[in-house]
Amino acid sequence: MQVIDREIAKIFEATVKKVYGDIETKKIEVSVATNEKFGDFQTNFAMMNSKIIGKNPRAIAQEIVDNLEPNNVIDKLEIAGPGFINIFLKSEYLGELLKKSRNEKYDFSFLNRDGDVIIDFSSPNIAKRMHIGHLRSTIIGDSVARIYRYLGYHLVADNHIGDWGTQFGKLIIGYRRWLNQEAYKENAIEELERVYVEFTKQSEEHPELEEEARLELKKLQDGDEENYALWKEFIKVSLDEYEKLYTRLDVHFDTYYGESFYHPMMQGVVDELVEKGLAVEDDGAKVVFFPEEDNLFPCIVQKKDGAFLYSTSDIATIKFRRENYNVNKLIYLTDERQQDHFKQFFKITEMLGWDVEKYHIWFGIMRFADGVFSTRKGNVIRLEQLLDEGKKRAYDIVNEKNPDLSAEEKDQIAEVVGVGAIKYADLSQNRQSPIIFEWDKILSFEGNTAPYLQYSYARIQSILRKAAAEGKEIDYSKEIKVENKQERALADHIATFPMVVLKAAESFKPNIIADYLFELSKKFNSFYNSCPILNQEDDILYSRGLIAKVAGETIKEGLSLLGIKTLDRM
Ligand code: ARG
Repeated sequence: MQVIDREIAKIFEATVKKVYGDIETKKIEVSVATNEKFGDFQTNFAMMNSKIIGKNPRAIAQEIVDNLEPNNVIDKLEIAGPGFINIFLKSEYLGELLKKSRNEKYDFSFLNRDGDVIIDFSSPNIAKRMHIGHLRSTIIGDSVARIYRYLGYHLVADNHIGDWGTQFGKLIIGYRRWLNQEAYKENAIEELERVYVEFTKQSEEHPELEEEARLELKKLQDGDEENYALWKEFIKVSLDEYEKLYTRLDVHFDTYYGESFYHPMMQGVVDELVEKGLAVEDDGAKVVFFPEEDNLFPCIVQKKDGAFLYSTSDIATIKFRRENYNVNKLIYLTDERQQDHFKQFFKITEMLGWDVEKYHIWFGIMRFADGVFSTRKGNVIRLEQLLDEGKKRAYDIVNEKNPDLSAEEKDQIAEVVGVGAIKYADLSQNRQSPIIFEWDKILSFEGNTAPYLQYSYARIQSILRKAAAEGKEIDYSKEIKVENKQERALADHIATFPMVVLKAAESFKPNIIADYLFELSKKFNSFYNSCPILNQEDDILYSRGLIAKVAGETIKEGLSLLGIKTLDRM
């Protein structure tokens, strides 16, 4: 089915063609009416094309109104102000649209969806547990991936793990000297973190350790068998740990091509840069200097000792992707501190003439307001702790609201509500602003929070259950009549769902969907307050019941684009 603004625009296009023939007018833009008095949608076509057509806007608007193509979408048009055309939709059309919105797929074929969209997110550095900083990359990245999939893009979710850094030399030394086998068996990654910290401590007193670590790293890079085996083990231990969190977060990857994967390609990349005169020798290192107007620091692509850098691996990654995928676009998520890095290597690939559409989607840093987690030096908040804390707090709330549920049920609800609240607290804010995290706020059942939305959904399910218990099964065979103001406002809002998803995709901003859902819940509540469903005449009960069902399914689908689950009871 057509997205509603396109469906309406089509009718106007046909009308304009009929009235103005071959005049090359500007495209018809249809937007949501700013006020219910102005109808459901509106267009400023007449004002936009006044000069081109050579008539005043109100006259153009009148001609369009008088000649409107016959259709079963628009009920009436009104001209307002300097020449706005207010569009009032037919109730039957809206009723049908609501049903179709759940039973048919929207037609997004106007998007250029050829090839693969590769999204690079989460991407932690090996041998460290994920901390709160990884939350945003993981959650926002996953949501963007879900949004693009919904629109029908072929998506590749890639975890660009940091598995080739200088940490490995240190870890190898730490492992050989200070590892506690018992502790390692108990919790491998925690013990690896401990020996890493130990290395840092020891090397303050014994600076020669740094050089030893460098040699171990070099041995690893030259293919030393023992070091290679250890390195493999560190990766396995880390990925096993990450997997547990990804499962809890319901986040999944198609590929785990870490930095090491690109290592064999890096010398080739440096050579190409040198051959093309883009990288030059500077004090033994190979460096790319940028044109002055780019305002970028020079970028080292190979150190004096032959080692490659973070940027080298990212350049190699683009080369690999261009050769092995049919790239539609590349999307990367990291925090704001990496903006320069991305500008540099994006620019380098452009200088190489590798044209590919790419976006660095950055986000601000997260911090806590209530001091429950204070980031003392060396004491980072682990992601797992954060999820556990959210779950614990959600459990207490569920316990209070619904003491009669079984412990198992409470536990399941607490996990969905806790994780959902944490995700939503992140996704509902403009990603570029810093996030201040307040437990009481994010776990609230009121206001713009996940529990509020999940609760709206559960409430709708409860209404449908009650109706069913009275023998009134509400299904899609029933007829929807959009009659009063609240019903219409809710129906209009549901109709714009795909428009909102498109906007969120274009700007890589899941918070647009969050705002939409909050508004949807509010509109549902005012509909439900003024339009009772249960104990009504059958045709009213079925119509309103089905509107509620469609609203519920829309909340569920919207939340799923944020990676948040719903519950039938809570
Ligand atoms: N591993 C990096 C970090 O933890 C993030 C990698 C982001 N992706 C990329 N292609 N550079 O900071």
